Amino acid sequence: MKKVCIVGASGKLGQYMVQHALDRGYEVVGVCRETSVGKLDKFKDRITIVPGDTNDRAVIKQAVAGCDGVLVVLVPWGVRDYSSGTAQAVMDYAEPGARLIFSCGWHITKDGKDQYSWLFTTILAIVNKLARFFRFVDIDDQVRACDLVFKSNTRWTVVRGSSLEEGESQGLPVWSKHVGDPVLESDLTRRIDFALFMVAALENDDLIHEAPAIVGCQTESAIAHRSFNGLKGA
Ligand SMILES: NC(=O)c1ccc[n+]([C@@H]2O[C@H](COP(=O)([O-])OP(=O)(O)OC[C@H]3O[C@@H](n4cnc5c(N)ncnc54)[C@H](OP(=O)(O)O)[C@@H]3O)[C@@H](O)[C@H]2O)c1
Repeated sequence: MKKVCIVGASGKLGQYMVQHALDRGYEVVGVCRETSVGKLDKFKDRITIVPGDTNDRAVIKQAVAGCDGVLVVLVPWGVRDYSSGTAQAVMDYAEPGARLIFSCGWHITKDGKDQYSWLFTTILAIVNKLARFFRFVDIDDQVRACDLVFKSNTRWTVVRGSSLEEGESQGLPVWSKHVGDPVLESDLTRRIDFALFMVAALENDDLIHEAPAIVGCQTESAIAHRSFNGLKGA
């Protein structure tokens, strides 16, 4: 892994990923909306910035050229297929064989075997309805984006984040295949460590075609279930 592209580099998760990628000595290309370029000022002498919407195919084509890996922040903003447009453009234009790592939340399911609490399902349904009504977020589009990824024959990993908090790094999160597994019960990860997991996944071939659901390695459930056999992060 020498050169990586970070799509959505200016957001909170994106900026952490830029830092982790630079720490590993990767050459970094960041894509962000033109209005957000200033958010990357602290990195501007060390990375190449390609301004533009992440679902703009020409922007993505330019940004991913020559990259061994692409880290994609999938966000369901707006109701114009922003997430699915971004995912498709990345898969269409990434170099053959490149590692592609996508971010999303626990609500995404790869095989339908995740077990959600009624509270989680109810809140998601309400948020989805309200957000679509006000036309600012379309969570179903993030679902469609991940379905496109799951069906592709690229070297993908979809990292499913728990609830997030800010704070110092605690180390690489642990993961499991299904929401509902006891190790994930604490439902909390530091955002900086979510980013760490995304960047580490670039060089972890065990994660190819997996959709790991992650949780902080210092959380109660992670510590209590250290021997759980789905636990591979630490
Ligand atoms: N937040 C959570 O609790 C949570 C929980 C689990 C998983 N996740 C996942 O974590 C990832 C990062 O989410 P985050 O909440 O932590 O946010 P974040 O890192 O701040 O990222 C938000 C991204 O959305 C972009 N964005 C904001 N408004 C937009 C708009 N109107 N149109 C297009 N793009 C826009 C931002 O770009 P600009 O810099 O240009 O604004 C930024 O790249 C996502 O994949 C999310 O599904 C989040």
